[in-house]
Amino acid sequence: MVHGRLAVPLLLLGLAAMSRAEAPQAAAARIDALIAQMTLEEKLGQLTQQWGGLSQDINPGARQQALADLLGMARAGVIGSYLGATGAEHTNTLQRAAVEESRLKIPLLFGNDIIHGYRTVFPIPLAEAATWNPTLIEQACRVAAVEGRAAGTHWTFAPMIDVCRDPRWGRVAETAGEDHFLGAQFAAARVRGFQGDNLASPNAMLACGKHFVAYGAAEGGRDYNTVDVSPQTLHEVHLSTFRAAVDAGVGSIMSAFNEINGIPATAHPHMLQTMLRGQMGFNGLVVSDWGSINEMIAHGYAADSGQAALQAIRAGVDMDMCSGAYRSQLAERVTRGELDVKVVDAAVRRILEAKQRLGLFDNPYIDPALEKRVMLTAEHRALARDVARRSIVLLKNENGLLPLKKQPGKIALIGPLADAAKDMLGTWSLYGKPEEVVTLLAGLRNTLGPNAKLGVSKGSEVQAALAGGIDDAVKLARESDIVILAVGESEDMSGEGHSRANIDIPQPQQELIEAVCATGKPVVLVLFNGRPMALQWAADHVPAMLVAWQGGVEAGNAIADVIFGDFNPSGRLPATFPRVTGQVPIHYNHRNTGRPAREGDRYTSKYIDLPTTPLYPFGFGLSYTSFRYAEATVSPTEATADGKFSLSVVVTNTGTRAGEELVQAYYRDPVASMTRPVRQLCGFERVSLAPGESKRVVIEIPAQRLGFYDWDAKFLVEPGVIQFFLGPHSAEGLQVDAQIK
Ligand code: BGC
Repeated sequence: MVHGRLAVPLLLLGLAAMSRAEAPQAAAARIDALIAQMTLEEKLGQLTQQWGGLSQDINPGARQQALADLLGMARAGVIGSYLGATGAEHTNTLQRAAVEESRLKIPLLFGNDIIHGYRTVFPIPLAEAATWNPTLIEQACRVAAVEGRAAGTHWTFAPMIDVCRDPRWGRVAETAGEDHFLGAQFAAARVRGFQGDNLASPNAMLACGKHFVAYGAAEGGRDYNTVDVSPQTLHEVHLSTFRAAVDAGVGSIMSAFNEINGIPATAHPHMLQTMLRGQMGFNGLVVSDWGSINEMIAHGYAADSGQAALQAIRAGVDMDMCSGAYRSQLAERVTRGELDVKVVDAAVRRILEAKQRLGLFDNPYIDPALEKRVMLTAEHRALARDVARRSIVLLKNENGLLPLKKQPGKIALIGPLADAAKDMLGTWSLYGKPEEVVTLLAGLRNTLGPNAKLGVSKGSEVQAALAGGIDDAVKLARESDIVILAVGESEDMSGEGHSRANIDIPQPQQELIEAVCATGKPVVLVLFNGRPMALQWAADHVPAMLVAWQGGVEAGNAIADVIFGDFNPSGRLPATFPRVTGQVPIHYNHRNTGRPAREGDRYTSKYIDLPTTPLYPFGFGLSYTSFRYAEATVSPTEATADGKFSLSVVVTNTGTRAGEELVQAYYRDPVASMTRPVRQLCGFERVSLAPGESKRVVIEIPAQRLGFYDWDAKFLVEPGVIQFFLGPHSAEGLQVDAQIK
């Protein structure tokens, strides 16, 4: 580590010497001493986050000026945090100005969106959720923290823990899918992964649970749109992932852009105070989303920036991300007596506490040698490959077309995503480099070797036709023995501000798929996607189909591992795949209604032009082997609200290959004082089985997990029957019943 020369004034020597082993009281006293010396301007500076990156796209003169401005603010002590500053050299330069040249020597906090890896880009979070393996994803977040912190980032704006039931929403890519129980497991795992055991170590980043709250419930799946959600759904679904993150010790929370039932999340006292700090007991730092304080004017909730700033800080937002409203507006409000300076002090304290926990008062700098050493190591790449292949979901495999033999004859690799490096990185991969990505083409070559008979044709662009593309692709398909179609979405078709009104495969690619299928050659469709997509045509006509998402730097190797059977697919859908866009919003854990859907019965809850089921249900995914479930049990059959149930089922590998099955446990409370979902995930367990092997899988379910929120948002575990289902996905399972006394 490079140790900074902290030229501290005498009064602050204690602070500089403060070690993390020191008693919390001592740390608090030192922070008190610091706050006591701060001017109001310095305090509001601490509450301010501003863009601190230096664009490569501007001319050297402008770059110089931008840097001078950033340094000027740091020296003046009027900035608490920079967002987007990265790299040891740049962050150390800025940090030096703060800790060596500012009056109070308070270190800067560098924040960044490191969502699914820094240089070693892992699959998008939705794909990571398809592993149903929170422990594995905890490791992926560790790698992100090792690389991110070494590049100067103290604070990552992750995990994104919104729950999304509408795949039109572009940010579904950043979520763990549609289920809050699964989402909560990933929320906790990611927090642990980013933060590690000790935030002050050079391999940990402060995590940020976002976006608080219910951002994923945007009407119509349109980004930033209004959220109008019942208290039950708010508490049971949207708040539950935040509860899990807080319980896992998340150090910060970001408020959301949306309004919740008429009040913007940026200044929602009920959510931020009563729920987050009150009921959940969160005591870390709250940051606004980008510019969202001033957006309260457009929401129709504040007349001007001054009112917006006042509302946000009073509601509990400690740091203003990039609206500048706290710094420009709050001094006057304090002076006029409209805002108690104690509110400002409390926010400053939380920011200084975060800096203290990160060890920045002791070790503000980054070691450039460490930065070089830890990026994209072979070990990190190996983990990225493992996560990517475990995220792949096999949707269809007619007549065991997959896995392919390693000498399959001539392969035609067709489609705009066959060799699309950038598109493998997915949304929020700011520091990933396309040139470091293994594309599908490269992955096939790596597996098959230089003499592979492999033809490539793009066929179409992602969203536009390519002149002669289809003819070329069809010709190649005809000359080949097997076709691999690489189709779907480019990386910029999901993510923030990238909602789609239509979640089909884009038309030019659909035409390509149909033309290639018409050749009669066997086709393996590899879908690249940042969301669940409507795949009805492909499901009806293509014999084998894999969901490969956006798989990160090792995407191509991971897909090749699956295609050629070096890895038996074990991913499961973390979100329902609808038949057509008109079927969304869609989620497996819906209510039954008074007229549950029945085929052939028009006056039931369904569409006249669609089957009642989705195309692929939540939790679905095939393997190269098959599994049988038998002998489901529950014990005890009666338990009290503080007791637990032990579910078990015997799973047998009935195929000819070793494989991993994910046993999923769902429950239904058939009669309750509030209507309950038809199924709700309550546990899952992975089991590896050799061909012919059987194992009894046990899943423990505390009765508290079966409770719900009543009309007044009070949590209840009611007596009565509970039906459990043990099976391979949300639409199947062996039923066993029990009773809560
Ligand atoms: C996004 C956040 C992100 C922030 C900073 C916003 O537009 O909603 O998720 O952390 O920008 O980049």
